[in-house]
Amino acid sequence: MDYLLQIKEATEFIRSQTDFQPDFGIVLGTGLGALVKDIEVAKEINYEEIPHFPLSTVESHSGKLIFGQLGGKAVVVMKGRFHYYEGYNMKEVTFPIRVLKLLGIKKLIISNASGALNPDYKKSELMVINDHINLQTENPLTGKNLNELGVRFPDMSEPYEQSMIDAAIRISKEENIPLHQGVYVGVNGPNLETKAEYNMLRIIGADAVGMSTVPENIVARQMDIPVFAVSVLTDLCYPGHIQKISVEEVIAAANKAEPYMTKLIKKVIAKDKD
Ligand code: HPA
Repeated sequence: MDYLLQIKEATEFIRSQTDFQPDFGIVLGTGLGALVKDIEVAKEINYEEIPHFPLSTVESHSGKLIFGQLGGKAVVVMKGRFHYYEGYNMKEVTFPIRVLKLLGIKKLIISNASGALNPDYKKSELMVINDHINLQTENPLTGKNLNELGVRFPDMSEPYEQSMIDAAIRISKEENIPLHQGVYVGVNGPNLETKAEYNMLRIIGADAVGMSTVPENIVARQMDIPVFAVSVLTDLCYPGHIQKISVEEVIAAANKAEPYMTKLIKKVIAKDKD
C-alpha cells in the first residue's frame, strides 16, 4: 500500500482513540524511560494496535505512544523506537515520526545513548547534539518524494534548533547539570566500533557515536519540525580509553544519567515559548 496512505491511516486510527493535541513529540532512547513517570497521562496506545506501525521485535516490544502533560505542555511520547539494526528499513524506522507530524506536533525532542569520542567527556554525562554526520547506509528520504509532507532536497544547515540548544545550556547552568555540546555521528550498528573506527570517527569531526536519531532528525527536518536532541554518553571511545563494553553497562550508564536527562528535557519543554 501507498506509504502516505499508511501514514494517514495510522494517524486516523490514533485520532479515533483520542482527540488529545500534542505540541511536542518525544522519542525516548535506551535506558531513558523514567521520563514517562512524570507525565500526567491522558491516553496510551500500544504500537501493536496502530495500523501499519512496524511489527515489534523483542526490543521494541511493549512500545507505546503516551499522550499527556509534561512540564505544563501537551506531549506525545514514543516509548520504544525502531532501529535500523533490528532489521527495519529506514521508512519503517521513521514511520512514527511521519505520524507524529500529522498528529500536529510542533517540535521533536530526541534522546539516545551514545559512545563518547571527545576526550573531555565522562561516562554518564549528557551531550546536546548541535550537528550530525550521517554514516548510515540507507536514507529515509530515498525514493519517491512525499511532496505533501516535505521537499525533495531538504536544507540541513540547522538540523538541531539553535534556540533550544541555547535554552538547554542556560538550564544546565541553572540546574547544575553537566552538559556538553557536540556532533553526533550515526552508524548502522549493531556491533560497536573497532579502535580504528573510533579513531576515524573522531578525526572526521564527531564527539559521540550512536545507532539512532539521524534518520528521525532527517525526516523531521524534511517536514519542517524543529528538533532538539540529547545523548547520554554511556561508554568512552577515545584513544587510550577504549574498553570492552556490554549492553548491560550501556544501560546502567544511561540509567545513572536518567534523572539529569529527565530534568533537562522537562525544563526545556516547560520553558519553551513558541
Ligand atoms: N558506538 C555506537 N553506538 C553506541 C555506542 C558506541 O560506542 N555506545 C552506545 N551506543
